[in-house]
Amino acid sequence: MTFPAPSLQPLALEGEILQQRAWRMPDLVIYQHGDQEWWVAPLDEDLPLVRLNRMGASLLGAMDGRLSIGALLEQFGKWVCGSNQETGRWFLERWALPRYSLCYFGTEPPSGHSVNAKWDLLLQKVREQWHENVAIESEEHLTEFHHKGIQSHHGHFEIVETTVSHLLREPCEALHGLSYGQLLAKTLKQLGWWSPKPQRVVEVGAGLGYLSQEMAKEFSRVERRGVEYIFLDLTRAFLQSQKALAQKAGWDARILNANAEQLPLADASVDLVIDNENLADMTPVHLSKEELETRKGATPEHQQSLDLIQQLRLNLDTPYPDEAIFNYGAIQFLHELWRVLKPGGRALLIEFGIDSGWPDPVRLPGHTEYEVQFTYLRHAARWLGFREQYCALPQLLSIRRDTQVLCTGAAYAIRRLQEAEGKTFAVRAYTESELRHTLGEISGLVRVVGLQSPDPGETRRVSPPRL
Ligand SMILES: C[S@@+](CC[C@H](N)C(=O)[O-])C[C@H]1O[C@@H](n2cnc3c(N)ncnc32)[C@H](O)[C@@H]1O
Repeated sequence: MTFPAPSLQPLALEGEILQQRAWRMPDLVIYQHGDQEWWVAPLDEDLPLVRLNRMGASLLGAMDGRLSIGALLEQFGKWVCGSNQETGRWFLERWALPRYSLCYFGTEPPSGHSVNAKWDLLLQKVREQWHENVAIESEEHLTEFHHKGIQSHHGHFEIVETTVSHLLREPCEALHGLSYGQLLAKTLKQLGWWSPKPQRVVEVGAGLGYLSQEMAKEFSRVERRGVEYIFLDLTRAFLQSQKALAQKAGWDARILNANAEQLPLADASVDLVIDNENLADMTPVHLSKEELETRKGATPEHQQSLDLIQQLRLNLDTPYPDEAIFNYGAIQFLHELWRVLKPGGRALLIEFGIDSGWPDPVRLPGHTEYEVQFTYLRHAARWLGFREQYCALPQLLSIRRDTQVLCTGAAYAIRRLQEAEGKTFAVRAYTESELRHTLGEISGLVRVVGLQSPDPGETRRVSPPRL
């Protein structure tokens, strides 16, 4: 799928900007390629790697907030800094653009009460710019995106959206040496959800299918025998991968290309539903303040949402914002779950979201997802008749909350840098020792500060989604 990228119009280095200072992005990874060449990866995958000579590496090293842009220009501007003859000026005109995102120009450092929070805001702004030419996303855009926008699964969960279960798809120290799927299977057994074993399991929105592959490792052949494992997904390109991995792992698997908001399944026909990081993909309805105040919808779909709010007696957060996002599709899905689950059936829903207020959009390349408002969703579940339990994912899976893992930004950059060397690098949640082990002999990876000894352990926590 193509989507509009912000422009690459170079910054004009004049006027007030010359008094501003420059800070490198904190998760920046620089790779030393040979004696006299260093590489960094711009945020935009479509831009070529930036290849620097010693002077260029020094320019990047000097972006520590001490020198003004004017001083940097004077010191580096006229010299060749790049391996393709780019001057220091050429780089200074581009590196702060969102598509490069290698540094930040400003009068104040991007810090304050929390350095990370400020940088995260900055990255959020960068992401917003990816969508600057997109008129407000239509309420159907997510269905369209999954139905037609994804032609191939290759790289999708590495580039477009990286989920927690994908990052933890292999055994990992942070999960006591298990993979996410293995740990989830153990948890299901501990909860008693496999005794008696379910006859029909439906995994909704399974991505590439790693969860089923890993879960199979925790169930014996006898525990899997007689269990029908159905994958239901809107994206055709993913279903084949799901089936292939599950069948190889020993499941009796089949696939259904369908929308979870209208399940093509008979009433009371399913024992267990697993839905991992998919609720934020379901249809959002953008309600105006006026619609919320008057309870009169501008379209039949909006009226349905307002009627649903009324019917569920949802205690909405006030004051109403000018535009409020309502997780209409996720609540429709709950309705469908209530219909298709057998009496005593169970569903496990995992997603990121909020407990109060109104959901924010989350901009990703090519599409926008929406936080899930759990208080409303839980209310709807109880209203339907479910007994619901709610907790944070680390609590469910006994993940240590303080475990530090490589942040995805750095992982993407390392992958690109490795690919340019003809090597592969899987994007996943490495702890520092796992990363050192994986990189093994690759000693060219250095932090940019002063170009010192290798320290690939730039780590940040993966923010846990909630159950
Ligand atoms: C963010 S991915 C999560 C994939 C996987 N469960 C994981 O945790 O890595 C969302 C998945 O849900 C699917 N999906 C999105 N909207 C859907 C819908 N309305 N009905 C069924 N599947 C949907 C996508 O195709 C994809 O497989």
